[in-house]
Amino acid sequence: MRKNIVAGNWKMHTCKDEAILLASAVNKKVKEEVKNDNTGVVIAPPFIHLSLISQVVDTERICIAAQNCASEPKGAFTGEISARMLQSYGVKAVILGHSERRAYYGETDETLTKKVNLVLENNMRPIFCCGEKLEERESNNHFEVVKRQIENVVFKLSKDNFEKVIIAYEPVWAIGTGKTASADQAQEMHEFIRKLIKEKFGSEIAENTTILYGGSCKPSNAQELFSKPDVDGGLIGGASLNAEDFTAIINSFEK
Ligand code: 13P
Repeated sequence: MRKNIVAGNWKMHTCKDEAILLASAVNKKVKEEVKNDNTGVVIAPPFIHLSLISQVVDTERICIAAQNCASEPKGAFTGEISARMLQSYGVKAVILGHSERRAYYGETDETLTKKVNLVLENNMRPIFCCGEKLEERESNNHFEVVKRQIENVVFKLSKDNFEKVIIAYEPVWAIGTGKTASADQAQEMHEFIRKLIKEKFGSEIAENTTILYGGSCKPSNAQELFSKPDVDGGLIGGASLNAEDFTAIINSFEK
């Protein structure tokens, strides 16, 4: 059976001391207040804090993820961080294809395919993001857009490799806007994604794939979102910067 996961994407927030404080607070609260061991907890701090934070949190309980990695394995690529480097620091998962990376850094399906493969080759799990822009939803193209994003990258993987992928559906219009997709809108898209996976890889893999929702998920709406049968948790931006809110979200599952 698939696992519920709540992942915090810190984006470009926190300086050194703030990162230590936040990670320590999350660690303490998860230990004291999260009773359900079956809910996976992930934090994705900025690269520069990864090593520090893996010393601050119980990495048996909280999985450390990166927010990106290079599309090449190594070499003369000034400023880049390779998947292998991340793996050597104990990173277990990498967020790929976030809409901010697609929009501001021109990430294409081709670059993402390379990144996904490098992450898998280095024994980490891709957290693969997909999601439509507002105009795409308004023109009723949202299913088509998400289908294409998924088919062009993670559906190119072998069955064995696809099993390691976590999908995050993040409608671009809901990210950082305070506007959340309704629980029904999230469920509708998650169900659609699971159906695509079933058609491609069969029902067992579809049932086992964790599909997260992201976009203004917070303590006040997490419970309703997570109560939907195909919503297996969240990829949390803003609310993951507050240990209390983040823990409340982790504790929002009924199932
Ligand atoms: P917010 O939760 O701040 O809307 O961000 C969502 C997101 O982009 C997580 O990756």
